[in-house]
This record gives sequence, structure tokens and C-alpha cells, in this order.
Amino acid sequence: MLDFVRPNILRMQGYEPGEQPQQSDYVKLNTNENPYPPSPRVLEALQQALSGERLRKYPDPLGWQFRETAARIFQVPPEAILIANGSDDALTIITRTLVPENGVICYPNPSYLLYETLAAIQGARCHSVPFTADGDLPPESLPRGVHVTYVPNPNSPTGTVVPRGRLERWPTPLVIDEAYADFAEDNYLQLPLHQERVIVTRSLSKSYSLAGIRFGFAVACPELTRHLYKVKDSYNCDALSLVAATAAIADQEYMRQNVARIRATRQRITPLLRHLGFTVPDSQANFVWCRHAQHSARWLYEQLKARRILVRYMRYPQTEGLRITIGTDADMERLLDELRRLV
Ligand SMILES: Cc1ncc(COP(=O)(O)O)c(C=O)c1O
Repeated sequence: MLDFVRPNILRMQGYEPGEQPQQSDYVKLNTNENPYPPSPRVLEALQQALSGERLRKYPDPLGWQFRETAARIFQVPPEAILIANGSDDALTIITRTLVPENGVICYPNPSYLLYETLAAIQGARCHSVPFTADGDLPPESLPRGVHVTYVPNPNSPTGTVVPRGRLERWPTPLVIDEAYADFAEDNYLQLPLHQERVIVTRSLSKSYSLAGIRFGFAVACPELTRHLYKVKDSYNCDALSLVAATAAIADQEYMRQNVARIRATRQRITPLLRHLGFTVPDSQANFVWCRHAQHSARWLYEQLKARRILVRYMRYPQTEGLRITIGTDADMERLLDELRRLV
């Protein structure tokens, strides 16, 4: 009996990431990766880094080169930027900084399942806030004494965004998880500079095609960012991820071109999925959330997997569905062909 393990760790399930099959013959539409390669500038920068002294030495624990480049591009002070080993790492650092044992974490329902895991590790309690039918998130049902609310915007798995005006007036400390913001029409990256209780997190895994590198960042007011740096591992971002991330964000034009292709594919396939009988909310992310009146999501997931197409089956207390990443046009044609046979 491992009774020396903290009771909340013994009790918790552990976060289950999407399947990552190592065979490459799947059409992989389950973890919101970008179907296009990263900027050629990333590969050049990595090759240069490999030929130098970089691997022998520790990386810059404060990631100044990335922060200065990002600051210029996003018009925020470098002191406001936290570097992270993927935006999941930023979410972990924020939770450890803001939430005490027995504290309270809020998030919408349905949304990113990791928030619940972070709460369980911290020994905190969870409270979920339901979306209204039109995707709004009224804060009236929030309990007292909330330490932080996480809102993915666009949301996963639905791809929807909350109406403008709502998050600016949120009554608790707030993390706006903008992992998918580059695919959306709007974002809140500047808000933390005006509101010290707001933090925005960003990922390089999706719009910059760097899920394999593990890099993300957060923007908070400089004073709060100083506290976040005390909590992060000293060398949470390795030398190569810092080089790759800096080169990737410096090439905004390349990122925008890929995002435009993905948005065009999203636009094209959404009505086709609806035509097959799926309910699909308008998505502002690089995936769509699909539910079918006649067929169970689990059955469809299994049928597609047997045909070497991997989508994400997701089950929540009140709903279940398929979250389907937008791939290349050819990937989506394969998917639609199989779905036409199945539904
Ligand atoms: C809403 C949301 N936030 C954060 C992440 C984590 O991204 P990263 O790869 O940067 O850790 C994901 C990944 O799927 C996500 O869906």
C-alpha cells in the first residue's frame, strides 16, 4: 500500500492525452496538429544551433531572445512574457502560483479536460460553468472565493468563442487559454497589460506546426510574471525549443498563410458535415465538434479508426461527440468519403 503518496494523487485518474500512434499510415485528425510543416526558417535555425556549442551548455533560463522577439511582434513588454514547455506547462505554473490546497478552480463545461487534472494535483476543488445555447458564459453561477477561472477561447472541444465584452469583466482571476487564437477572428493578448488579474496563454503546437518541439508562452502583467518565474523549473525550455520557437514566431507571414489554408478547409467542410446529419457549431479553431442524431460518437470513432482515420472521441457528463482536426483537403476528402458510407 503506497500510503505515503498524497491522497489526492492516489484518488485521481490522470490526464489521458489523445492517441499518438507511431505508425504513420493513419490520417491523424485527433490532437489538433497542423497538417503543414513548420516554417523553413525553423529548420535552418535548428541546423545552425546543432552545429554550435548550444547542446553542451544550459539554455537561457529566462529565454530573453524569445521574449524580445515575441515582445516586438505582439506589442507587449518582454517582462510580461513567461516561457513554457508547451502551453500546458504555462497552465501548470499558473495553477501552482495561484491555487492553494483546497482552493477553487473554475472552467466551462465542456472544455479542456486538463484543468480538472491540474486541480486534482493541486488538491483543489473544481466548479464548472455551463455554456448557454449561444456560447455565452454568464458568471452568475460562480461560487465565492474562486482562485482562478480557465476559459479556452476558442474553446475545445466546441471551437466556439465567448461574446466580446464577457471576459473583460470576469469577476475572478482569469486565464484565457488562447491555444487556438490564431485561427480565430479576435484575441485578448493585450488584455493582461490593462487588467492584472488576467493571464493569456499561447501554444506553438497548432498554428506554428511545432507540437513536437513543446513550446508555449503566457502574457501577464510584469509584476505577476515575476512571480510565475519563481515557480517554473529553471530550465523548462531546452536550447532547441527556444531556437525553434524564436524562428517560428519571427515568421508570422508563413504562419498566417497556413492558418488561412486551414480556415478555408474548415469553411468548406463544415456545411458538408452538416449535410451528413452532424450538428456542428461554427468553429473558430483548427477543429470541428461533431455530434450525430442517429449514430453514437463512440461507434463512429471506432469505425473510422478501423479505416485508419483517427479522430478524438470525447465524453463529458452532459454530452459526447467527435472532435475532428482540420487536416489537408485530401485528408478531409478521405474522412468525408468514409463518413458517407457510415451514416
Ligand atoms: C485548450 C488547449 N489548451 C492548451 C493545449 C496544450 O497545448 P500545448 O501543446 O501548447 O501544451 C491544448 C492542446 O490540445 C488545448 O486544446
